[in-house]
Amino acid sequence: NASSQSILVCLTLLSTSSFLMCYFIVWMTSEQNPQFWNAKGKEALVTALSLKHNFHLAKNLILFLGDGECMGVSTVTATRILKGQLEGKPGEETVLTMDTFPNLALSKTYNVNMQMPDSAATATAYLCGVKATYGQCSTEKNNEVHSVLHRARAAGKSVGIVTTTRVQQNERNWYSDAAQPADALAGGCKDIAYQLVHNTDINVILGGGRQYMLPNNVTDPEYAKQTGDRLDNTNLIDEWLKNKKNAKYVWNKAQLDAVDEDTTEYLMGLFEPKDTRYELERNAETDPSLTEMVEKAIKILSKNPKGFYLFVEDKIDHGHHASEAKKALYEAVEFDRAIARAGELTSERDTMSVVTADHSHVFSFGSSSPRGNPVLGLSTKIGTDKKYFTTALYGNGPGFAIDSNGTRPDININITSATGYAQQSAVPLSSETHGSEDVAIFAKGPMSHLFHGVQEQSYIAHAMAYAACIDPYTECNLEPAPEPNHAAPIQLSAGMLLLALLTFINLI
Ligand SMILES: *[C@@H]1O[C@H](CO)[C@@H](O)[C@H](O)[C@H]1NC(C)=O
Ligand SMILES: *[C@@H]1O[C@H](CO)[C@@H](O)[C@H](O)[C@H]1NC(C)=O
Ligand SMILES: *[C@@H]1O[C@H](CO)[C@@H](O)[C@H](O)[C@H]1NC(C)=O
Repeated sequence: NASSQSILVCLTLLSTSSFLMCYFIVWMTSEQNPQFWNAKGKEALVTALSLKHNFHLAKNLILFLGDGECMGVSTVTATRILKGQLEGKPGEETVLTMDTFPNLALSKTYNVNMQMPDSAATATAYLCGVKATYGQCSTEKNNEVHSVLHRARAAGKSVGIVTTTRVQQNERNWYSDAAQPADALAGGCKDIAYQLVHNTDINVILGGGRQYMLPNNVTDPEYAKQTGDRLDNTNLIDEWLKNKKNAKYVWNKAQLDAVDEDTTEYLMGLFEPKDTRYELERNAETDPSLTEMVEKAIKILSKNPKGFYLFVEDKIDHGHHASEAKKALYEAVEFDRAIARAGELTSERDTMSVVTADHSHVFSFGSSSPRGNPVLGLSTKIGTDKKYFTTALYGNGPGFAIDSNGTRPDININITSATGYAQQSAVPLSSETHGSEDVAIFAKGPMSHLFHGVQEQSYIAHAMAYAACIDPYTECNLEPAPEPNHAAPIQLSAGMLLLALLTFINLI
């Protein structure tokens, strides 16, 4: 059988190669075979036994923020299965890049005055380390708090923001001065586009949101019928470029590809007037993917010998608000791909990477379904109304579909897997709401073991600041990781060897 064949292959390999290869071949064989799960369990045990905390100083910090439940656990599971199914596999066994991060915690996302959080107050928590009230950013007069990004810049690191939303994304919608209420303008409160250009000296800004940077009589470079948004006749792109050395502005993929990372210190890329397109609808000729933006950002930022701070955000949130699970989940698969690319361009030795979400959504994933059931498919069980339903559903939202006769529409896989299909929900709402449950935090790299247990969301900023020893944690007693010694052979601990041997004997 397959198992004994693989043991034979293993025996041959054993004389020439490592135990690990041997493991790989054995557990590839068959899930029906108990040996498969025993070998897999032992392999995971070997990994767990060899885990060592990295007590070094984090030179670089990367925060990946799946806007809206990417790390809500139901979205993580559905994303993992979709990733596998896109590769032609059943899907459940697939491993996301974030799944490989060794340290995990849960983040309590509530706001000071709200059980269900919003994006502005949660941003104040995970970026600045202070919980806020619903809709509150860090700009309240006499109550200012500074983000880890700002503090990292003050410590001499390069800093960047990469997002698939507009770069001025905020819950108050003050994207430009045109969107601000009169009292806010009179009070001297600046719109987010203005703040983005004037507050912190940011090295790399990539995302959407061109129209909020341009005056309302300036035509958009990509869409001749559109103009900028600003009433103050200020071109914030020109202002940003002014007084900067080796600075570039780009607005399409070809221009981004042409940017020479080695000679560029500052890069602003704005690829759409508002948000960038969903990954599912992106024009790969004209618009960069999140992964491509992350790659360019890291190559520019990592030239700084003092390290960098990078904030990466994906608009998974928007797909969920529309109750379109397909858009949200394809977005989340791309988000995971960007995390993988960042992992290739950095080292776990000196880079702390943290993956989390600002809040969850009322997205649920379940009901009777066989192994490999399409993520956007149907439950094998039908409702008491004798109609099919999808395994992905929303508690509320625009997918409410009970007609005036009190019946639901009949659906099939072709309908539910089409782009633009909104999964059904129990309560009609024009926009599906956030969820209130905890979201996961995945972490790897120096001091990533600080992410453990159940934590307040505001702890994220504290743990990241401590790991990099930046304000207010300047007495952290952490040494930089030593340079890797490329000549060092792979060290197998005695425990690992013993386990490998036991497993092998067991299999024979
Ligand atoms: C936009 O309007 C301002 C103020 O009237 C003017 O100075 C500027 O030249 C105009 N720009 C364009 C591109 O028309
Ligand atoms: C409700 O039921 C009636 C009678 O079967 C049918 O004519 C009508 O089209 C139904 N309405 C909707 C909205 O489906
Ligand atoms: C879905 O579409 C395919 C291809 O057009 C068709 O063969 C199949 O019968 C359809 N399934 C349902 C349930 O309508």
